[in-house]
Amino acid sequence: MSVFFFLLFLSLNLGFQSQSISSASTIRRLLQNQTTNTTTTCPLDFESLRRRIQSSNRPNLDVATRCHYVLQGIRLVQSEYLRSTGNFVPPLDSADACWNSYQTLVNDFVSGFDIRKTCGFQTSWIAEGCMNITTRREFESNVSSTALNNVAVACNQSLENSSPCASCTTTLSSLQATYLAGNSIGNVSDCTAYPLIYAAAVNQFGPADSGTAKCLFSLESIQIKPSNKNRKTIIAVAVVSISFLILFLGLSGLWYFRRKRLELLKKRRISRRESELASGLESINSSTTLVNYTFDQIKTATKKFSRDNIIGKGGYGNVYKGILPDNTEIAVKRFKNCSVSGDAIFAHEVQVIASVRHVNLVALRGYCTATTPMEGHQRILVTDLVKNGSLHDHLFGTTKNNLSWPIRQKIALGTARGLLYLHQGAQPAIIHRDIKASNILLDEAFEPKVADFGLAKFTPEGMTHLSTRVAGTMGYVAPEYALYGQLTERSDVYSFGVVFLELLSGKKALMAVEDGQNMLITDWAWSLVRDGRALDVIEDGMSDLGNAEVMEKYVLIAVLCSHPQLYARPTMDQVVKMFDTDLAVPSIPDRPIPIIANIDDIERSVGSSGSISGNLSGSGGFHCYYVQDEDDH
Ligand SMILES: *[C@@H]1O[C@H](CO)[C@@H](O)[C@H](O)[C@H]1NC(C)=O
Ligand SMILES: *[C@@H]1O[C@H](CO)[C@@H](O)[C@H](O)[C@H]1NC(C)=O
Ligand SMILES: *[C@@H]1O[C@H](CO)[C@@H](O)[C@H](O)[C@H]1NC(C)=O
Repeated sequence: MSVFFFLLFLSLNLGFQSQSISSASTIRRLLQNQTTNTTTTCPLDFESLRRRIQSSNRPNLDVATRCHYVLQGIRLVQSEYLRSTGNFVPPLDSADACWNSYQTLVNDFVSGFDIRKTCGFQTSWIAEGCMNITTRREFESNVSSTALNNVAVACNQSLENSSPCASCTTTLSSLQATYLAGNSIGNVSDCTAYPLIYAAAVNQFGPADSGTAKCLFSLESIQIKPSNKNRKTIIAVAVVSISFLILFLGLSGLWYFRRKRLELLKKRRISRRESELASGLESINSSTTLVNYTFDQIKTATKKFSRDNIIGKGGYGNVYKGILPDNTEIAVKRFKNCSVSGDAIFAHEVQVIASVRHVNLVALRGYCTATTPMEGHQRILVTDLVKNGSLHDHLFGTTKNNLSWPIRQKIALGTARGLLYLHQGAQPAIIHRDIKASNILLDEAFEPKVADFGLAKFTPEGMTHLSTRVAGTMGYVAPEYALYGQLTERSDVYSFGVVFLELLSGKKALMAVEDGQNMLITDWAWSLVRDGRALDVIEDGMSDLGNAEVMEKYVLIAVLCSHPQLYARPTMDQVVKMFDTDLAVPSIPDRPIPIIANIDDIERSVGSSGSISGNLSGSGGFHCYYVQDEDDH
């Protein structure tokens, strides 16, 4: 309950804040005018962003996520600039000053985080446009009036709620694909972001409005850090908020006590479920029993990395089976082409991953970093061995066998619980980013264990070009992540939905249809559901079929999870509740013109690198840390 009030408090704050922004920035502009005579100053107003910044209370944010927020922050500020001046980007000679202003702002929240160096942004990028378009007028003359009108209709409203937000982003993605496809990938103000920047600028509430910032820039979390300059506003806001809070408390008291009894009943049911799980859970904060293995130990365990011990291969390197001296069996993931420089971050991330323990997640046992004269620098992860292969093997592989309905139910439910734990049980929350059938491992009892969580941040794409390259595997990646690089827990929900459909139908995420064409499983399943044939999704010849109503419910949940519009998808929490209780599946919102009707469209907007076959991250899978200097600076 108290958490709920806290959220309410924040959102109240926001409502008032956005009203005060315009006057505050006017004052600031006046102040600036008095002092801008000598050197080139940055015309961008970073103060509005300051009010939205998530502060240092999440020190564990990884570099990739931080850089992503940095980038989204620039876009928000540029959008304000567009709104007030009609220009997308500031003059080139102010680029340096703008980065400095931004750096000053960032320093107030995180120390020692050089945004340009760490995230790989070039100085000029902040002042470069897309396809020579720098003004609002140029943008509007490049786009058809129908498209502009669609944006005005869909995006010039409060974007606070899911359905207006979804219709706005859908409009923008089609505009982007039609008019701004492909060019100048790698710029901060790249073509991918232009429609978002434009839409936020023409929105009647403006870019800094909480709904707009959340919907278009995925800048959701806010923490107010009072400074002397605007203490008065903050006090005023606080006073008003608190009075509202008190009013609300009074009103909700009544409602609360009426609900309470119902909730107690529900809680009792949930806690029973949790105690079942507790056997597999360990406290997240308990000191992790992570082992720092020596290279010799690993070598012995894997019989010197014998070929016979290879149980998996990927772009990142091989996975070996190993046996420790005490006869426990382990899986050894050996990254290739590593350099020493990223070891510290590697060790930190490993600690984070290791602190996450759940019966439906593969447990990390330890790691190893070492440099040997013969083999070079080594970076290795050691996890428990899950013996029964992956879901992919069972559905599509050489060991393909006909999984019965009860086993499939168990796999769906366990996977959902594992993901729920990553999203809500882990501190900090972990977005998997690469959920696919080959990352769902099965033990002898067919209990699923999600593997490789937390590893996607080891991809080089995480470090640079955040918006344009995406970690993940073709067919499983949520459209908003592929198109905008917008990464949230709901991108995982999408991938979960796709795996879930594979599990139900025995068909692959990218289904082969005639003449070499592919079709997304989610489009296929959706069209069956729309025609009232949900049960046709279920694989032919499945044994021990369940109750038709339950099977239909599972299909609907899977289709809902893999909905192309982010806000139509449930959270993992809701998914687990739908599995566990009689909670009905909400009606599935209509789909927009399929964002990814055509795979080529994704390829065009995602990749400058031509090597997309099968894997959006280009060279595929996990890598060692990227060495910055090798980037295209
Ligand atoms: C940024 O975009 C401009 C075109 O507006 C292009 O000339 C430039 O090469 C791009 N920069 C990068 C690093 O791609
Ligand atoms: C951008 O403008 C410059 C000069 O104004 C021109 O030479 C160049 O071809 C233009 N590029 C594009 C992509 O329109
Ligand atoms: C957006 O809506 C507001 C209020 O309805 C209106 O005043 C404004 O002109 C609209 N802006 C655009 C670009 O259509």
